[in-house]
Amino acid sequence: MEIIRIPRIVQDTCKKYRMKGRSVGFVPTMGALHEGHLSLIRRSRMENDITVVSIFVNPLQFGPSEDLARYPRDVESDSNKISALETDILFLPDDALMYSPAFSTSVEVAGVSEKLCGRFRPGHFRGVATVVAKLFNIVSPTRAYFGQKDYQQTVVIRRMVKDLNFDLEVVICPTIREHDGLAISSRNTYLGPEERIAAAAIHRSLSRGAGAVLQGERSAGRIREMVEEGLAAEKLINRIDYVAAVDLATLDDVEEIGREIVLAAAVRIGKTRLIDNLLVNV
Ligand code: PAJ
Repeated sequence: MEIIRIPRIVQDTCKKYRMKGRSVGFVPTMGALHEGHLSLIRRSRMENDITVVSIFVNPLQFGPSEDLARYPRDVESDSNKISALETDILFLPDDALMYSPAFSTSVEVAGVSEKLCGRFRPGHFRGVATVVAKLFNIVSPTRAYFGQKDYQQTVVIRRMVKDLNFDLEVVICPTIREHDGLAISSRNTYLGPEERIAAAAIHRSLSRGAGAVLQGERSAGRIREMVEEGLAAEKLINRIDYVAAVDLATLDDVEEIGREIVLAAAVRIGKTRLIDNLLVNV
C-alpha cells in the first residue's frame, strides 16, 4: 500500500491508472475506522482494480460547537486496517494542502442539505459537499462508496454528482450494526457503558416503526409517534432532534406512506449526537 500525502501525487497516480483502463474505487473517510468503513473498502476491492481510501478530518463540516478537536484520531491503527484489506493507496492529506489560506470556494447543494440534520447542523452539508467535490477531483474515481448510515449525505452527494456532471458512480452500502442493532459509528466511542446500552433504543424504536408499516400502518404521523415513544422511554436519551418519515430522493416529509420511505432519527445521549435510519418498503 502506498501512503500519499500530496493531492497532486494522488491525482497523477490515479489518472495514470484510469488511462491504462483500470477502474478506481474510492472510499472517503474521516478515520477512526470501524467495521462500517471496512465494509465499504471490501466492496470497493471486489468491484475495482484499484482502491483508494482517504482519511481526512474535514474541518469545514464541523460546526463551531461540534467535536472537531476531540474527533477520534488513530492513523497508525487505521493504516494497518486499510493495508490488511490490500488497499492500493491511502491518501492522508495535510489540512494545509487541502485548504490554503486563500481557499474560498464552496459547493452548496440547496434543498436536500437543509432538511433533517441540516436544520440542526447549519453548514455541515456544504462542508461535506465541498470536500467530497475536491476529493473526487483529486482521485477521479470510477466508483465512490458511501454508507447508508449517513443517508442524507448520500442524497446530497448523488445530487451534486448529477448537477456537476462528475463522471463516476455513487455506490451506497448497507449500514453495519453491533449485535444489539446500534449502527456502528466513530462517535459510539464517546458513550459511557450505560449510554452505550441506551443507544440501542434508536434502532429498536426505528425497527418498531418499520414493523408497523410492514403490518399495514400507512399514517406517517402515527409511525413517527411510535418511534418517538420508544426513544422517549429511554431516559438517557436527553434530546430528540427529529424523527422523520421522508421521501427517498427529496427528503420531504411523507404523510401517507404509499411507497418506499426512509425512517430516520437523530438524538442526543449526553453530549453525543447519534443518527440512524431504515429504508422501509411497503
Ligand atoms: P465518516 O464518518 O468517517 O464515514 C465514512 C463513510 O463510512 C461514510 O460513507 C459513512 O456513511 C460510512 N459509514 C459510517 N458508519 C457506517 C456503518 N455503520 N455502516 C456502513 N457505512 C458506514 O462520512 C464521512 O466520514 C465524511 O462526511 C466524508 C464523506 C468522509 C467527508 O468528509
